[in-house]
Order: sequence, then structure tokens, then C-alpha cells
Amino acid sequence: MAKILVTGGCGYIGSHTLVDLIENGFDVICVDNNSRSNPLILKGVEEITGKSVKNYKVDLCNYDDTYAIFQENRDIAGIVHFAAYKAVGESVEKPLMYFENNLVSLINLLKCVQEFNIPWFVFSSSCTVYGNPDNSIVTEETPTKPAESPYGYTKQMGEGMLRDFQKSNPQTQVILLRYFNPVGAHPSIQIGELPIGKPQNLVPAITQTAIGKLPKMTVFGNDYHTRDGSCVRDFIHVSDIANAHTLAIKYLQDGKSENGVEVFNLGTGNGVTVLEAVKAFEKVSGLKLNYEIGARRAGDVISIYANNDKAKSKLGWDPKFGLDDMMLTAWQWELKLKKDEQMFSEPKSQLN
Ligand code: WQD
Repeated sequence: MAKILVTGGCGYIGSHTLVDLIENGFDVICVDNNSRSNPLILKGVEEITGKSVKNYKVDLCNYDDTYAIFQENRDIAGIVHFAAYKAVGESVEKPLMYFENNLVSLINLLKCVQEFNIPWFVFSSSCTVYGNPDNSIVTEETPTKPAESPYGYTKQMGEGMLRDFQKSNPQTQVILLRYFNPVGAHPSIQIGELPIGKPQNLVPAITQTAIGKLPKMTVFGNDYHTRDGSCVRDFIHVSDIANAHTLAIKYLQDGKSENGVEVFNLGTGNGVTVLEAVKAFEKVSGLKLNYEIGARRAGDVISIYANNDKAKSKLGWDPKFGLDDMMLTAWQWELKLKKDEQMFSEPKSQLN
């Protein structure tokens, strides 16, 4: 069975993608320096799949260490590349750290793709490349706009680097997956999101407030020109996002890729407001969330959601989870983290 290298496989989307690839018959290895993830999440992957996944604890910014992985694994058929910093606010404060980490790691990886002739490359991109779109519902042809943050700029640059690389290395086929807002946890509740520090994203902020880790949550603005004044997003279950990666690899494996680089939007196609997301959480949890309406957050896109026809028709992608499932699994995961507080709290120094 084809071996897939998953970078950032100890992360949120990466760990869910390991599960989906294994369940679809792929052999997987992981590269993750655990600077922003916990290798113990691989125990959850093993719980679900019965497979133990090897993690190379390597910083992809170190070329020699990255090269050594490919020397040791001559049978890598494809790469799914998640490893990157992704906190929008932090990227504004530390742009050079984001440019260095997110771009040097990609360059080192592509040097190895060239050296070892790896045929399939799937890149973790984001709807953030669209900036504030003129029309809320975006297709893959919607023009990208100047990124709202250095994080978003590294995604735009990553896509551009991959297009130029593929032109000069036609033996490698590339797929760019633009995620909308990944939320929720695997239905087994064995893996889920492990935000570091105070969560920046909406759903972990909701669940951490509900569990009492945060005193209250702020809705950043309710005076936007939307149906209830709060921003509109396309929330998509992380397991649906994971399955799209497996389908992208299969698409490349079946030789269906055209013109070397293809882009796919990964969203449900449903726009949901922040306040509607809060209400959905209250419904599935049976709790009243302690939130206040605050000022708008700088850099926020007002309204964006996906036209996902292309992923559905060309990849055969069929997102299964609805908003209630997303909120319920996110809540169940938060409850599990509280119940097993020791599960992920071991000091990193004790981890292998
Ligand atoms: C969603 C909405 C906030 C927190 C970013 C990146 C994207 C991806 C996901 C990495 C906004 C509002 C949030 C809170 C709130 N990054 N909100 N109170 O900004 O759409 O997307 O994160 O994979 O690439 O661009 O996600 O969850 O931060 O915000 O009101 O405490 O929720 O203002 O309208 P975003 P988000």
C-alpha cells in the first residue's frame, strides 16, 4: 500500500487525516517537531485505527534532518503538508517568525520532493487567501486578495511557490486544499483540537468558556452588515476535511490530476453567523454560554463561505457532518479533556 508522509501529523487536522488515510488503506508516517503539538495524540490515532504511527520529531526548517527522513523512506509516494504556524494574531506580531517557519520548511520539503521524485503533494491552504471577498460565496476562481495577515500571506506564497515548483518539476502533481473553518472532533472523541494557550478560534473559545476554563467569551462585533450583525463563516467538521485529503491523494494516485496543480475549496457551502454558532452550541450542550458582545477584531473577514461544487464533483467529496455534530463533538472532546486532565498535561520533557 502506498506510503504517505504527513507533516504536522500530531496537529489538529493532521491527526484526523492520519486516521482517514489509515482507514482507507494507506501506510503513513508523521513528521512533527511537536513545537505546537503533543505526540500523545498519536495514541488516540492508534486507539481509533489499531495502527501505531511513527513520528519523526524533526524541524522541517533543518534541511539535513528532513533529507534523512527521505533517505530512510525511499517508498514515500505522497506528502500531505500541514506543518506550519497558523495563529493569525501572532503572525501580525511576529511576521518574520511566520515567514521563516512556514516558508523555509516548505522549501526544504520541496528540495526533497525534487531529489527523491515524489509524485504527489497535497498542501494545506486556507480560505484566508481570498481576503475579504466582494461576494461572500467564493469559488476556486474567485480572485485572491492581499492577505489580511502574515499568516495568510504565507499561505498565498506557499501556493505560488508550489505552482512555480510544479512547472519546473512536472513529474510531481500538486493539490491545494483551501479550508474554511475546521471545527469539531473525531466522533470517537479519541482525538480533537488541543489549542495552545488562550484559544484564538471561535469554537475552542466557546467550549473552554462552557467548561469553565475561561470566565466568558466575547463575540467580536454584532454591527456588521449581516443577517444578525455578526460575521459569517463556513464551519466544516475536521473529519470531513480529513477525508478530503484522502480523496485528494486517491485523485492523484488515479492519475486524474490535470495541468499539474489543482485547487479545491473545503467548506460545507453553508454560511453560519458567529451568533448562530453560539446558539447551536447552547442547543446541543443544553448550557447557556456566558458571552458578551465586544468590539470588532482587526483583520476579520466580514462574510465568507464556500462554493464546494468542484471538490464534490472532481474528488467525490461529500461532507457528512452538520453544525450540531460539529458543536457536539467539540463539546464532548472538551469534556473528555477535563475528565482526563492528565491525558495531555505531561510536561513535554517527559515525552519521547
Ligand atoms: C471566526 C469568527 C471572529 C473568537 C482563521 C484563519 C483561518 C483558519 C481559522 C487556521 C470571526 C469570531 C472568534 C472569539 C469571536 N486558521 N470570534 N470570538 O478568523 O475565520 O479563520 O482561523 O487554520 O485560516 O484565517 O477563525 O475562529 O478565529 O474566527 O467572535 O473568541 O469568530 O471574530 O468572526 P477565522 P476564528
